[in-house]
Amino acid sequence: MALQSLRGTTDLLGETVHQWSRVEHTARRLAKLYGYSEIRTPLIEDAALFLRSVGETTDIIQKEMFRFEDRGGHEIVLRPEGTASIVRAYLEHHLDKNQGFAKLFYLGPMFRAERPQAGRFRQFHQYGAEAIGSSSPWVDVEAITLCVEILRGCGVASTDVWLSSMGCRDDQRRSAEALRKRLRPHLGKLCKECQARFEKNVFRVLDCKNPACHEIAWDFKGSPFLLCDACTAHFNDVRQGLKGAGIAYDDTKTFARGLDYYTRTVFEVRAKGLGAQDAVAAGGRYDHLVEELGGPSVGAFGFAAGIERVLMAASGDVKPADAAASRRGVYLAIAQPDLTGEGFRLIQTLRSRGVPATMDYDSKSLKAQLREADKSGCQFVAVLGAKELQEQTITIKDLGQGSQRTVRLASFAEEIAGPAKASCHSS
Ligand code: HAM
Repeated sequence: MALQSLRGTTDLLGETVHQWSRVEHTARRLAKLYGYSEIRTPLIEDAALFLRSVGETTDIIQKEMFRFEDRGGHEIVLRPEGTASIVRAYLEHHLDKNQGFAKLFYLGPMFRAERPQAGRFRQFHQYGAEAIGSSSPWVDVEAITLCVEILRGCGVASTDVWLSSMGCRDDQRRSAEALRKRLRPHLGKLCKECQARFEKNVFRVLDCKNPACHEIAWDFKGSPFLLCDACTAHFNDVRQGLKGAGIAYDDTKTFARGLDYYTRTVFEVRAKGLGAQDAVAAGGRYDHLVEELGGPSVGAFGFAAGIERVLMAASGDVKPADAAASRRGVYLAIAQPDLTGEGFRLIQTLRSRGVPATMDYDSKSLKAQLREADKSGCQFVAVLGAKELQEQTITIKDLGQGSQRTVRLASFAEEIAGPAKASCHSS
């Protein structure tokens, strides 16, 4: 039997790769616009990093980490998320001392051993942004705005932003007590895991996937989080800021984040086309993580979006015209094989101007080349024949729009470089 990719992992090829590149490009471009610079961290990390940040009682740590010992006996994990790695790197490279406030953007695969289903993978891909070194509510506003802008830029037109505050650590202690008090009479009806969570980290009961626990845990109105005056003021500032930025949100929904490091503002973005439970992007403030990982006491805020889910949510909204827009570069077809050298010279000129270009080297018929051009996803097909060469002209057809024109060979590269280059950059 032929070998297949592992469950919960996917190969990307053909047009799918173009769609992914467009999402990656949009996220990178907008993150840069908002002052975030890119960081790339390793896919493997010391297991302790996630135990200390994501939280020992979370599903991610208890059930979902790909964890193994290397030959030296070190506990290694495939990273399940980006935030902890970014904070580690922030400290390891002394950005706390050299930069203080750092805005970092990242993109890449994450790994969680979840049961695969629609929109849930074992290797999935996130783009994300972390603003480390500030407690200002404006940082929350800016990052949530960026998150929504990227989704819009990727064609996810209708989003619901759920916004909440989990309060500071003191608030969380008070809220945990209140939640325990409410759940205590039902303790016997909770699953074994939730009974353990009840003492260790009662908020994780809110996150339980068992329907019976879910029903008991969520049988109340409003938020399970009690906020002190300072956290209320922070939350009000975030809401005001978002209103000013024109970002609609719903602060009446309560939801549980699956990671322990959050304080104050948390948010999830839901989108049409995904299951009711699943968010396309999510994040929040984590004001203690930098200190807990050995750094100074500074606030931080971030978010991450799953690229697979962004594309699922975008698909319904992508207009057919986008297929034409995704075409890039030039396929140079030649009417006879002895024009290969001349054709190669022409595509090299295009490439030197940054225009993707390709041609056939196997003496295929013109018809076969034109078929191949269409399949190749190129924006233009240019046909070079002996007669054209003699007249120093070449015919260019725009495969996206269907229009055709004949231009002077001397100005061929200029004719193409404008539009083809632009479409390359927009992909
Ligand atoms: P998260 O909510 O665990 O947060 O994941 C963020 C996004 O990653 C989700 O909204 C979803 O789109 C995607 N995602 C998560 N798990 C899977 C999966 N198994 N398959 C496909 N997509 C998935 C975090 O990871 C935090 N680090 C976000 C953050 C950044 N908070 C502060 N800074």
